[in-house]
Amino acid sequence: MAQSSGVAARPGAEVLAAFEAATGFMPVDEGLALYAAAADAAARTGLPLLEIGTYCGRSAVLLAAAARDAGTVALTVDHHRGSEEQQPGWEYHDAALVDPEVGRMDTLPTFRRTLHAAGLEDHVIALVGRSPQVAAVWGTSVGLVFIDGGHTDEHATADYEGWVPHLAEDGLLVVHDVFPDPADGGQAPYRVYLRALAEGFHEVSVTGSLRVLRRSAG
Ligand SMILES: C[S@@+](CC[C@H](N)C(=O)[O-])C[C@H]1O[C@@H](n2cnc3c(N)ncnc32)[C@H](O)[C@@H]1O
Repeated sequence: MAQSSGVAARPGAEVLAAFEAATGFMPVDEGLALYAAAADAAARTGLPLLEIGTYCGRSAVLLAAAARDAGTVALTVDHHRGSEEQQPGWEYHDAALVDPEVGRMDTLPTFRRTLHAAGLEDHVIALVGRSPQVAAVWGTSVGLVFIDGGHTDEHATADYEGWVPHLAEDGLLVVHDVFPDPADGGQAPYRVYLRALAEGFHEVSVTGSLRVLRRSAG
């Protein structure tokens, strides 16, 4: 198992290039913060790293690399039909991701190509399904929970309530798209972040809209 040195870990150049080449929305500074959290959690716990919201694999590349380097694996959950804001007519829709035969979004093929291009297929378990359903049958602890799935209150709350019980005591909770000012974006991830703080987590780092949290000792 890799050891944590106290210095924020950075992904190698190939991993960073794969992240930047992948379809997705996460900026590089947030990606670096996510990777550092993932590397820290994997090194300390040795447990799998769990992501809710695979999309096309941009952030999964970082979790996979951190998991690989610590001798563990990344788990990533998505039904691959897209979130509300990714449906036709909405701000984040990408028509290239629609399956013409089915007439619905399907990000799974692109995700698989992303992982293949990054050489990280062997370090990820893709869980294709709805996050609450997967969480309900999940049976092992994870070292990191990264919430980046549906951004409604219903979905973000279900992700928090479904997966935090699987988070190891010394694991990390990471929440994406936390916008304290409603003018900057939707409030559901922010409310999940506030709830986590109220329920015993403390903030480890803030990078853009990415918040890294850890349970407070005692
Ligand atoms: C913002 S994208 C994830 C972006 C990705 N983490 C990245 O950095 O590239 C959100 C994803 O969550 C998925 N999603 C939304 N609600 C979900 C749910 N209830 N269960 C599983 N996946 C869900 C959508 O299909 C979409 O692919």
